[in-house]
Amino acid sequence: MLEEGLKKQEILKILEKKLKNDFTYESGSILGSMCTEPLEFGKQVYNKYISKNLGDPGLFLGTAALEEELISEIGEIFGEQNIIGTFTTGGSEANLIAMRIVKKLRPDIKKPEVVLPISAHISFDKAADLLGIKLRKAKLKANYDLDLTHFESLINKNTCGVVGIAGTTSLGLIDPIEDIGKIIEERDIFFHIDAAFGGFVLPFLKELNYEIPPWDFTVKSVSSITADPHKMGLGVIPSGGFFLRDASILQKTGFEIPYLAGGNFKHFHIVGTRPGGTIIAFWAIIKFLGINGFKEIVKRCMDNTQYLAKRISEIDGIKLAADPMMNVVGITTENGESICEIDDELRKKNWMLGKFTDFNLIRVVMMPHIVREHIVKFIDDLEKIVKKLKII
Ligand SMILES: Cc1ncc(COP(=O)(O)O)c(C=O)c1O
Repeated sequence: MLEEGLKKQEILKILEKKLKNDFTYESGSILGSMCTEPLEFGKQVYNKYISKNLGDPGLFLGTAALEEELISEIGEIFGEQNIIGTFTTGGSEANLIAMRIVKKLRPDIKKPEVVLPISAHISFDKAADLLGIKLRKAKLKANYDLDLTHFESLINKNTCGVVGIAGTTSLGLIDPIEDIGKIIEERDIFFHIDAAFGGFVLPFLKELNYEIPPWDFTVKSVSSITADPHKMGLGVIPSGGFFLRDASILQKTGFEIPYLAGGNFKHFHIVGTRPGGTIIAFWAIIKFLGINGFKEIVKRCMDNTQYLAKRISEIDGIKLAADPMMNVVGITTENGESICEIDDELRKKNWMLGKFTDFNLIRVVMMPHIVREHIVKFIDDLEKIVKKLKII
C-alpha cells in the first residue's frame, strides 16, 4: 500500500489501462453471457442509493418496504400476487435458498434427495454439496427435452424436492412444468422453478403472443421461483431473486440475527450485509420500462435470435442444436464432430460464447447489447471457420 495517496485523475488513468483487457458488451464480443449492460437509469438510481443495507432492514424501513412492493409486482407477472420473496446476489444464491428450504421442510427424511433435469445449472450441485442433499438427475431426450418418464422414475420416499427449469442455461428451453406438477400433486414434495434467465423473458414473450407453456405460480404445485434482475431484467449486478408462494415458510425456516441495530427480522439469506441499491434500482427500472418497455426489448432480442438461427441453418457443417424458445441459440455440428475446435477458433477472433461439452454445443445468449451488425460479423467469421476446418 502506498504511503501517500495518488490524485484521482491518475488513479482513473491507471484503472483504464489495467481494465483494457476486459471484454466489453458494446464491442459485441460477449455473445455467451446472461448478463448485459444495466439500464442507464438503473445505474443512476443505484449510484444514488448505493449505501442502503438490507442486511439490517429495521434501519432501512423504506428500502425494505420497496422490496416488498417490488416482489408483489413481480408476483403479478408470475401469476400469484400474494407471494413473498427476497433479492439475492444472483441465481446461485436463490437456488441455494430454495434447496435449503426443501431440506428444512422435511426433517423426517434423513437422506434428502432432489430430482432435477441433467440440464440444471451447476448452482444445484453447489447447494447439494453444502447441504448434504443427493441429486438425482433425469436424462434428456435426443432433442434436449426432458425425459419425463425417467424424471418420474427417480422420485422415491427420500424425495423432498423437485426442480423444473424455465430457460435452461444451455439452450433456453422450458421443462414440462405442468406435467412435473401433476406427478407430485398431493405429495409432500417442494417444487422449485429455476427461471433465473427466463423469469424476465417469458412473461413478455407471452404478451408478444408467443406460445409459452405454463411455468410459473399459475401451475398449482409450484412452490417457488428463481428469477434474476441482473440477467434479462437489465438490473445492476449483483441481483437475483427468490419468490415463494407460501409466506408461512419464512417463519418456519428463516434465520434470525439477534444483534441488529434495527431489530430482529427473519430472513432466508446466506449473506448478512445485503445491497439495497440494486433492489431500488430494479424497482426504478420496472417503473420506467413498464410491460411495454420490456416487451420492446424482448422483441428486439427475439428478432435477432431468429435472424441468427436462420443464418446458422444456412451454413453447411453446423446446425441449430434446438429451435430457440427464447433468446438463446445453441450451435452444434451436423456430423456429430466435436464443437470444441470451432469454439477455439472463434475465441481467437474474440467471439466469446458459452461451451457445453456434455451436449456438444456452443451457445449465443442474444442479450440486449448484441446488435445486428455484431451478428453479421460473427456469422461471417463462423462461416469461414467452419469452411477452414472442413466440418461437413
Ligand atoms: C438457469 C440458471 N440458473 C442459475 C444461474 C446462476 O445465476 P448466477 O450466475 O446469477 O448465480 C444461471 C446462470 O447462468 C442460470 O442460467
